Amino acid sequence: MVSKTSLSLRLTFLLSLSLSASYSTCSHSFLSLRSSSSPSSSPSSPIPKATPSDLLSLLGPATAHSSSSVNPVIAGRLRSCFRFLVPFSPRTTSKCSSVNRKLIVGDGVQGRRAECERRRDEDRLIWWPPEPVLELARLAVDSGGDVGAIHRAIDPTPIAVPDVEGSKEDRCELTRAPYGRRFISEELNAYLKFLFELIESRGSAVGLDVTLSRYDFFHGHLFLANDTGRLGILFHAKEYPSYDKEVFPYYMGYCQTGSNVTYDDSMNLRNILWLAPLPSSSTNSWVSPGVLVVLDARPDGIIYQDLIPEYVQFARTLYEDDLGDVAVDVNYLNVGGLKPNYQIFIC
Ligand SMILES: *[C@@H]1O[C@H](CO)[C@@H](O)[C@H](O)[C@H]1NC(C)=O
Ligand SMILES: *[C@@H]1O[C@H](CO)[C@@H](O)[C@H](O)[C@H]1NC(C)=O
Repeated sequence: MVSKTSLSLRLTFLLSLSLSASYSTCSHSFLSLRSSSSPSSSPSSPIPKATPSDLLSLLGPATAHSSSSVNPVIAGRLRSCFRFLVPFSPRTTSKCSSVNRKLIVGDGVQGRRAECERRRDEDRLIWWPPEPVLELARLAVDSGGDVGAIHRAIDPTPIAVPDVEGSKEDRCELTRAPYGRRFISEELNAYLKFLFELIESRGSAVGLDVTLSRYDFFHGHLFLANDTGRLGILFHAKEYPSYDKEVFPYYMGYCQTGSNVTYDDSMNLRNILWLAPLPSSSTNSWVSPGVLVVLDARPDGIIYQDLIPEYVQFARTLYEDDLGDVAVDVNYLNVGGLKPNYQIFIC
């Protein structure tokens, strides 16, 4: 399934393929030129192209078959593009109290302890989310990756999508339908909000300055990974960069009007991946904790070179359909007036 927003990106970039062709070829390194030529025509090439499945494997259980099946050169290059917003491996020890002992005096102590504890709680919510999220993650795998399992967890009542920061005036439709839905479980809806807000607050630590706004960060695509059924969301930030003759000469339609998103290096970081914990397929246990990672698509990296289709390399868009079966889009929209009011709309 393709959302309106990504469709507009796709079309825009298809139309300007000739313009961007020079970008996508000139920045290739020797390694990627070699690896992107077809294996049959160059049997001497030892390094295959990275696949979306390689990427997901590296974010799965370390001991399982999967990671070891990834070519080590590819694994190293993929890992060099991971910018974790939450440490990949759960820490078992709490460092908050030991940090405090080193501080001498002052108002900062209480604040720092609170900050440390807040971060630790957030980390844990990514590694081991609340029960309703775990249930959905297990359902996804047990159903064999059936998106119907996700659809059945959603309350069918349609909720009209109101104006979002003046979008109606600009004739901009941000969502693929004029109405959205919510999960039956309020905790699932709350968890989605938590993900959007955590990405916004932690992004800058890895160089992703992101704002929850209709031009920048408001949506993600919930998918079930092809081979494992693992539940995930591919978020896209920097959705509508402002038109600029020099740096971003693309018209993207009504939703771009008035954009204050500048096209700069932080575009490289616009694909953000959340993966739910992976349940064991034979027991009640879990084989992998949850993951929250920014995928760095800088032009000299393997994500840009091997995983992003050439016609959208300029926009750095990694496609959700390449990761698995897309069940729904999740939107987090500011439907408030003067006072911001962010709400979830599942479309
Ligand atoms: C999932 O399947 C699609 C379509 O068959 C394919 O393009 C994509 O690469 C696959 N992704 C993974 C992670 O295997
Ligand atoms: C763009 O506008 C939003 C909403 O007014 C604001 O929060 C954000 O900081 C602005 N971003 C930039 C890059 O100026």
